[in-house]
Amino acid sequence: MSETPQQEKTLFMTRLMTPDMSNFSGKVHGGTILKLLDEAAFTCASRYCKTYVVTKSLDQVVFKKPIEVGDLMTFKCNINYVGKTSMEVGIRVEGERIKEKIEYHAISSYFTMVSVDDEGKPIEVPRLQLNSEVEKKLFEAGKMRFAMRKEIQERNKKLHVSLDNWINIWK
Ligand SMILES: CC(C)(COP(=O)(O)OP(=O)(O)OC[C@H]1O[C@@H](n2cnc3c(N)ncnc32)[C@H](O)[C@@H]1OP(=O)(O)O)[C@@H](O)C(=O)NCCC(=O)NCCS
Repeated sequence: MSETPQQEKTLFMTRLMTPDMSNFSGKVHGGTILKLLDEAAFTCASRYCKTYVVTKSLDQVVFKKPIEVGDLMTFKCNINYVGKTSMEVGIRVEGERIKEKIEYHAISSYFTMVSVDDEGKPIEVPRLQLNSEVEKKLFEAGKMRFAMRKEIQERNKKLHVSLDNWINIWK
């Protein structure tokens, strides 16, 4: 009897925050962190579905603490939920200030990544195997966020203000 192959659902990526990543106040620039989050989400999703993936959306990037140059940041990624062609990657970022022996939770966020073919068209992703109670809970929570994103998208359409004549605002 052949065993079901283990799915690659998690990824840990650790990066040192170097001086070139800092902003004017000497803390790490938010945009640098966003790029690293996207890189981690891409790698986790691509490894999971074994195809190229693109970023569809990200939500709830909450910066809980400022990040210092010299800190080690670990991006802990997990495939929480899969739809037909999309995946929700949950990312928890933990910081480490080695000399001071300080560890902190810096950021939490959710990325939606879509698996695409060579023409950039969405393709189906493998069904997620749920092997524990925690994985089942993460899946259910991801499913709810998936529905919430759809709802927000629809609500936002109704809030849309046409800026075709935007130049008139400044007259
Ligand atoms: C991703 C892309 C290929 C999807 O194509 P599309 O024609 O919109 O395809 P769909 O409408 O079927 O959406 C694909 C998936 O995204 C999901 N989706 C659509 N809008 C979404 C949103 N606002 N947030 C999260 N997921 C969303 C859909 O539910 C679908 O998932 P499912 O198959 O699991 O249900 C296309 O939108 C694209 O190329 N976007 C640009 C991607 C990119 O360049 N990213 C980098 C940004 S710099």
